[in-house]
Amino acid sequence: AGGGYEGWLKYSLIEDAGMREAYAEKCSRLAVVGDSPVMASARRELKLALSGLLGIVPEESELPDRGPLLVAGVPDRSQLFEPLAAAGDLSGLGEEGYVIESSSDGRVYLAGLTDRAVLYAVFGFIRLLQNGEDLEEIRIRETPANGLRMLNHWDNLDGSVERGYAGKSLFFNNGEITDDLERIEDYARLLASCGINAAAINNVNVHKQETLLITDAYLPEVSRIAAIFRSCGIRLFLSVNYASPMEIGGLNTADPLNADVAAWWKSAVGNVYRHIPDFGGFLVKADSEFRPGPFTYGRNHADGANLLADALAPFGGLVVWRCFVYNCLQDWRDRSTDRARAAYDHFMPLDGDFRDNVLLQIKNGPMDFQVREPVSPLLGGMKRTNQLLELQITQEYTGQQRHLCYLVPQWKEVIEFDTRARGEGSLVARVVDGSLFGRRLGGMAAVANVGDAPNWTGHLLAQANLYGYARLAWNPGLSSEEIAREWVRMTFGRDWEAERVILQMLLDSYNIYEAYTAPLGVGWMVNPDHHYGPNVDGYEYAKWGTYHYADRDGIGVDRTVATGTGFAGQYHSPNSERYESRESCPDELLLFFHHVPYKHRLNSGKTVIQHIYDSRFEGAERAAELLTLWESIGERIDEELYGQVRQRLLHQREHACEWRDILNTYFYRKSGIADEHGRMIY
Ligand code: GCU
Repeated sequence: AGGGYEGWLKYSLIEDAGMREAYAEKCSRLAVVGDSPVMASARRELKLALSGLLGIVPEESELPDRGPLLVAGVPDRSQLFEPLAAAGDLSGLGEEGYVIESSSDGRVYLAGLTDRAVLYAVFGFIRLLQNGEDLEEIRIRETPANGLRMLNHWDNLDGSVERGYAGKSLFFNNGEITDDLERIEDYARLLASCGINAAAINNVNVHKQETLLITDAYLPEVSRIAAIFRSCGIRLFLSVNYASPMEIGGLNTADPLNADVAAWWKSAVGNVYRHIPDFGGFLVKADSEFRPGPFTYGRNHADGANLLADALAPFGGLVVWRCFVYNCLQDWRDRSTDRARAAYDHFMPLDGDFRDNVLLQIKNGPMDFQVREPVSPLLGGMKRTNQLLELQITQEYTGQQRHLCYLVPQWKEVIEFDTRARGEGSLVARVVDGSLFGRRLGGMAAVANVGDAPNWTGHLLAQANLYGYARLAWNPGLSSEEIAREWVRMTFGRDWEAERVILQMLLDSYNIYEAYTAPLGVGWMVNPDHHYGPNVDGYEYAKWGTYHYADRDGIGVDRTVATGTGFAGQYHSPNSERYESRESCPDELLLFFHHVPYKHRLNSGKTVIQHIYDSRFEGAERAAELLTLWESIGERIDEELYGQVRQRLLHQREHACEWRDILNTYFYRKSGIADEHGRMIY
């Protein structure tokens, strides 16, 4: 351990002796009621935290006598909870909600209606201690906003991780399931501590060997991971290959309307549940980037998803079906096809055709996890379909965990976007939690950023993105700053100066990253394939539908209804009108929706070209300041952790200059317009 391995569950002794003693008094006796695997996790975690944070080993007691007592459990299982049950209404907590309450006789209750809820209460309580909260007269009631709070791991059986920037897979190694189950246990603790309740462990691109994960070749081993997850309240999902009936079932078709195909999936699913009784379900990437799907048979995505849904339904399993469907063999000469339109064009006509146990997983933007994109119009477009918001924690386009980029501010903008689907207040948060359209299922999924790196995420500060995603999925109302502050305190302890500086670094980092990379929402100015580093024309003549159309006069993609691809018209009013007009389109998305001359004036008052220059210069400068800030707290941070982060910030400083110079030079050469401030452009 060490080197960041404990993550935010680093239970170091609280330095403030007064506070520590006050806590210790409350926690000197402990009763954890129940002994299921989940309750065993809860008990173990509490004891670990109390011994680390407070330096105490609480006496375990279930005697209903008076005096301080920390009680954790499901209330109707012990009379210890009688005062709590009498005092408050626990109904409405659902399966995952919990209460933390103190009573006048010195007890603190950590309670919920299920073992999983109690585990969340325990982690919630530990978080209070780590954050130095007052325990007197405490009354906390928490229920998660989103039913599904999921991670997608893009891990392959050979141990590689697609778009992984933190080492190799936690789950697979050399064609086998890992035998480092201890590490999976620690991972499951980290996830449970912030409320993740579902995880797909293999890549959505399901290759040959991975197709076998749903068979006896791997299920006995997969079930060991599922058991660890189960003890932390997490349901395991697998990504499946749509062509499985052919590739491993010996059939000559995978047509969703074929009876043999349906029978094959039923039996395959039955077998999965024999091994993993609480199996979550399938995650599916179909008809996308060369993956097989229902289109081959002239069927649509509802046919495709419903086939699997019917096989899973008897067991309570779910189908998470991705909407990342577009033509990836486009011709750059073809100006009429717009990739941004694709998900909406494919899925809107199917609204209402999906089974109740299907969730459509929709990427936050219409393209592909660029630094800045508008929100996908499909979110809030569909009204009769369960929707799951897909975010990307792994920093594919946001600095690959070599640059600091705290993504919670980006995600907050997404979930607070008002789709106007049902008038004002129709936020994405309410679309995906199911409340806006009265859907029973919904939530969030995100591509994980972890691997076998000693500190899980490569960049230590990228742990804040994993933590932040999970906290946001639990409670979208938390602010970026609240989440960051929790994470900093839990990770670095309570040192005000360090906290102030790290918070500033985190909270500014997304804007800084945006400032020196592709401007004004245009995206894609990266090197092909690996997507790291500047390359303005890297995707300009590609088949992927990813263009910026910069010429000597101007730049941007005309996606208006009047003169462009019509994408702006996929939004509800008044968003559609807002994006349609150059004047009302927000500056940061201008080039996503409009092709404009370099001298076009932004709402900020600057011309586009001057904005490009100014923000690249400023972005690179601010990237350098991140390093200065970090160095200013060097003596307050564990030496090893300090060094890890410093290395990355040094690289970021240098690489931000590379971005600045390549972008500025490119646009100076294209436009011939000089920087108003005469700064160095090569
Ligand atoms: C991006 C990413 C791919 C990934 C795909 C997806 O295109 O670069 O690696 O497979 O998204 O989300 O399916």
